[in-house]
Amino acid sequence: MQAWKDYQEKNKDRFLNELLELLRIPSVSAKTEHKEDMMRCATSVKQRLLEAGADKATIYETAGHPVVYAEKIIDPSKPTVLVYGHYDVQPPEPLELWNSGPFDPTIVDGKIFARGSCDDKGQMYMHVKAFETLMKTNSLSNNIKFCIEGEEEIGSPNLAKFVTSNKELLKADCVLISDSAMISLDTPSLDVGLRGLSYIQVEVTGPNRDLHSGVYGGAVANPITILAKMIASLHDENNHITIPGFYNDVLESSDEERKLMAKAPFNEQEYKDDLGVKELWGEKGFSTNERTGIRPTLELNGIWGGYTGEGAKTVLPSKAFAKISARLVPNQQSDKIAELLINHIHKIAPACVEVKATLHHGGEPYVTPIDSKAYKAAAKAIESTFGKEPIPVRGGGSIPICSLFEKELGTKVVLMGFGLDSDNLHSPNEKFDLANFYKGIETIPYFHKYFTELS
Ligand code: BES
Ligand code: MN
Ligand code: MN
Repeated sequence: MQAWKDYQEKNKDRFLNELLELLRIPSVSAKTEHKEDMMRCATSVKQRLLEAGADKATIYETAGHPVVYAEKIIDPSKPTVLVYGHYDVQPPEPLELWNSGPFDPTIVDGKIFARGSCDDKGQMYMHVKAFETLMKTNSLSNNIKFCIEGEEEIGSPNLAKFVTSNKELLKADCVLISDSAMISLDTPSLDVGLRGLSYIQVEVTGPNRDLHSGVYGGAVANPITILAKMIASLHDENNHITIPGFYNDVLESSDEERKLMAKAPFNEQEYKDDLGVKELWGEKGFSTNERTGIRPTLELNGIWGGYTGEGAKTVLPSKAFAKISARLVPNQQSDKIAELLINHIHKIAPACVEVKATLHHGGEPYVTPIDSKAYKAAAKAIESTFGKEPIPVRGGGSIPICSLFEKELGTKVVLMGFGLDSDNLHSPNEKFDLANFYKGIETIPYFHKYFTELS
């Protein structure tokens, strides 16, 4: 569509400047000190949606950070697309590893460096600008609703309640999300699945107080040693998870599916070089893409205890802690796996320590059927602007609300991510290529057009 292209070309710099402004707001959902920034960010998103052409935009307060809802209803008998995204970001620490301030967006080599540039402000904003393009060129063919939340990065603790109590408001024919990655601009792909999550925390207590490690060491169990041993026992020599029953519900992919997945180009050497590792690691019998796509995993996300300050302190600590999460694949259930993890941790704890394991948050895995209208529309949209059909792949990350939308609204979710795996999500120097940002804005209007045509 030439009119779309012309409009976007003319407004390109403004689109970027608006995104940069949004990236300057430190909307870190995990920290209470950013409560006001969260509201400021929500207000700004609401304002942008109105400017883009929404009939109404509202900030819904929740028990946590607010949800921004907006809509443009052209005709109730036309199909409705619900766009979901999040304006909250992960904490930027460690700050010293950033080459420029996390909330001082800086463009280097055609890439925007800032926390949230890719996850998810940059990708969410593509939808606002695609919507604006459709409005300003009088070519919106369907109804659009936006649900932009502020708690995705902390597990969406209040979104379920918002969705269940606003089913009519959110009613749609499909949910469209850009909060994931593609292989590259040369090799477009669409995520047809995301993993679920079960996240727990473990506290190991030894003696009732910190002790002199010379006076007591050797006679009393050190909780760090015990925790380290327990953790080390969770994988065997083939890097299989040892927890009995962990794999019971895993839906195994057929050989045919695995063959199809193996067609996605993957350069192991480049992958290793990018990460600075000499060897990869993972479950025996599976390729790298399978290990992050169709297999469940168990990761240590944090471990601490004892003295970690400057210099040396000879202490035998009273406590040690770990944060542990499992990524889940279709058919595994988040609650069930969390319970399995917690019970197993208790079971393997020796009598010389007390162990407390508690649940953080979780979410179910999700699969998008490639024969759904939404997937077909996304594939056709990609083909229109990339000149190539996208490869369906499984994403390793999690967006727990996907399964919630399907359950509560009865709507399929399509994941049209424009980020790259190498965009440093949740890491220092998060980035988003300008080329991906603009390609997203160019592609999304086609999704709406094709979804309407296929409906
Ligand atoms: N956008 C990510 C999820 C993602 C990243 C999906 C890359 C596919 C590819 C999202 O913001 C995220 O980080 N989710 C969390 C889960 C959440 C419950 C904290 C995750 O995957 O760790
Ligand atoms: Mn995200
Ligand atoms: Mn994230």
